[in-house]
Amino acid sequence: MLLGVNIDHIATLRNARGGFEPDLAESALICEKAGAAGITTHLREDRRHIKDEDVKILKSVLKTRLNLEMAMTDEMLDIALKVKPYACCIVPEKRQELTTEGGLDVVLQFEKTLNFVKPLEDTGIEVSLFINPNKEQILAASKTGAQFIELHTGQFSEAFSSENEEKEFQKLKEAAVYAQSLGLKVNAGHGLNYQNVHRMHEIPNLIELNIGHSIICRAVFVGLECAVKEMKELINEE
Ligand code: PXP
Repeated sequence: MLLGVNIDHIATLRNARGGFEPDLAESALICEKAGAAGITTHLREDRRHIKDEDVKILKSVLKTRLNLEMAMTDEMLDIALKVKPYACCIVPEKRQELTTEGGLDVVLQFEKTLNFVKPLEDTGIEVSLFINPNKEQILAASKTGAQFIELHTGQFSEAFSSENEEKEFQKLKEAAVYAQSLGLKVNAGHGLNYQNVHRMHEIPNLIELNIGHSIICRAVFVGLECAVKEMKELINEE
């Protein structure tokens, strides 16, 4: 499995004082050096962490791949088509939420999703839809032309070590197998950490895990390079 490191919260820390420290591009290069297969950033509508300029700078300095998470809006489509990241992950977005709360409702917004995916893929950008492990959503996603889905692991992560862990885990596993049977490639992310990530090995053929908060938290104690290396080791362990 590949590790995509989400560096949004490096920007959160920087923005706390409004200056340039810690430097986002430098942090991305450290993640790459430590073995990240790509860097993920979420350009939110309210620009609470990542700013437009950050996305442009990351695109120019990265040696690996930039995965741009974004809401399904005209503004974000324009930005993505100009910046041309390697991949876009389409997420739902609510202004008041602390982080992305649920998956995209592709069933409800099927036409909109179809029309959003097409120009991105026509430009050569890989498109992934961030969805809950739900069969109806997966089936709809498979008809949008998107090559990837990213399974929302938030509910599994919250249930980890509780009586609901197995139920939430099985939902993810069945969803991944179903999506793959429809020809979709499957990534996963949200809430994954050093304790729960090992269960992702039990899901066949996952391609990439996108992990942010837990790595940046760990970096406070051991440094960013070490935090990424530690996570990568857990992901590579069989
Ligand atoms: N994947 C997606 C689509 C997300 O929105 C996020 C959070 O920005 C992540 C992965 C990473 O989640 P976490 O920060 O909890 O690791």
